[in-house]
Order: sequence, then C-alpha cells, then structure tokens
Amino acid sequence: MYDKFNRRINYLRISVTDRCNLRCTYCMPECGIKLLDHNLIISYEEIVEVVKASVAMGVDKVRITGGEPLVRKGIVDLVRMIAGIPGINDLGMTTNGILLKKYAADLKAAGLTRVNVSLDTLNPEKFHEITRLGNIDQVLEGIAEAQRVKLCPVKINCVIQKSSQEPDALVVAEYCKQNNLQIRYIRQMDLNLGHYSMVEGGEGGDCSICNRLRLTSDGKIKPCLFNNLEYSIRDLGVQGALNMALRHKPKCGSVNTMGTFYNIGG
Ligand code: 5AD
Ligand code: SF4
Repeated sequence: MYDKFNRRINYLRISVTDRCNLRCTYCMPECGIKLLDHNLIISYEEIVEVVKASVAMGVDKVRITGGEPLVRKGIVDLVRMIAGIPGINDLGMTTNGILLKKYAADLKAAGLTRVNVSLDTLNPEKFHEITRLGNIDQVLEGIAEAQRVKLCPVKINCVIQKSSQEPDALVVAEYCKQNNLQIRYIRQMDLNLGHYSMVEGGEGGDCSICNRLRLTSDGKIKPCLFNNLEYSIRDLGVQGALNMALRHKPKCGSVNTMGTFYNIGG
C-alpha cells in the first residue's frame, strides 16, 4: 500500500500491552501510569485480524512492542499466531530484556525472527537509576540467550541525550562490537513537545521514508508516532481504521499530546 505522499507502507508495529516491569525515567513517571482497563486491551484475536488485513494490503514486516511485550500473558502464543500468517518476512520484537533469558528459546521456536533490546549504559548502578527497577545482569543474560538461540541479528537500542559519543554510549558501543551486536542510537524524545530526530543506525524518525503504521494496545491504528491521529478498530472496523490511517498519514511528524511510549511502542 502507498500513502498519498507515495511512501510504501509495509511495516506494522504492534504495542501488545501498556504494562512494563521497568519504569524508565524518560518513559514513565515514578508513580507509574494509569493503566488501561483489562477489557480495553487489544485481544490476540483482534491483533491477528489487524495483521491479516495489513498483510493483504502489503505489510510484510511486523514488530511486537509494548510497554514490555514479554509481560503479556501468552505472548509466545501470539508470536506463533502472527508467524503463521503467510506473507510476513520479518517478525521482530523490541524488549527491555529482563525476561528474555526465560523466553528466548520459546520465541524462536514460535517463529520470531529477531529481537531489539534496550540498553543505555553498562554501569549497573546507572542502569538501575534509569530503569528505577532493573537488574542489568538479567538483560545481559537475556541478550546472550537471544544470540545463542539465533534470534538474530540482535540489535541494541541505546537512548542518548545528544550524541552517540557520550561516555555511556561509547561503552555500550564497545560491548556491542565485542559481542557481535548491532547498535542503534535513539535520541531521547519528548513527544508532547515534538522533540524527535532520526535514529542513528536505524530507520526511525526520517519522515520522508517512513514505512510504518502502528497498532496501539487499546486497539487504535496510528499513522504517526508524532501526531495525535488515531483510528479505532472497534469504532471503524479493522479495514476502516487501516484505510483512514493510510489516507491521513501526515507528511511529517509534529506533536503528540496524548501518546506515550508505553502504549504506542517506540
Ligand atoms: N525517547 C527515546 N526513546 C525512548 N524509548 C522509550 N522512551 C523513549 C524516549 N522518551 C525507547 C526505549 C526502547 C524503545 C522501545 O523506545 O529505550 O528502546
Ligand atoms: Fe518499560 Fe521500555 Fe518504558 Fe523502560 S522504556 S519503562 S523498559 S516500556
């Protein structure tokens, strides 16, 4: 499918939950968030319906995000359901890695292609400061396990302030080099203020080549992360919401005063 600016849309990002087992300072307030009612959270049946309709329109690449996707019950079953839909060439997941050691082998067997793991520092104290709850050893073990079961290439998402030459980012880069991991630098964003920029080493943030649609954890199709537009699959039907999102995908991002990373995904 093509949008009205002739961008080919072949990539669907799915936020499967607004819940997370960490509380990263740049993502969530310390007191936590107002969680969605369980009955509003998108069901696996709804997700599969959206993926099937998207694939019929030309999507061949899918990513599962959150919140933290591995905290959602039955996530391996969801991966199996999506992987079984003919036409998907690439099924990835973005995770904080805390539960990855436990799930990596099952995810691989269920048909997941690869994972991106968030890691902003290698300093255990600093990691705990940023995530407020996290133990870095669990993440490092998760990354190793993902590589062992060949969820590859394993990519590392490293959030930076201004530059990939910041001290923490340099240490993470060296770790990646030694461990055969690909690194992507994501400048810390503020959706509400419209502060966003291109992902260094990745594709995100470049509006002119944006190929994405998003499905939120409460069942809305969003044409752009940096915009308030969203179309409910429950109000408009799956096909109706996809069509509206495609038709109204903005030429470039502006501000998003409603959205947050934990229910739209990064
Ligand atoms: N700015 C940039 N990246 C963010 N992420 C979460 N919040 C922000 C933010 N404010 C990142 C996480 C993860 C990805 C899903 O999004 O670190 O790598
Ligand atoms: Fe959780 Fe990811 Fe947000 Fe951190 S950035 S709190 S790991 S959803």
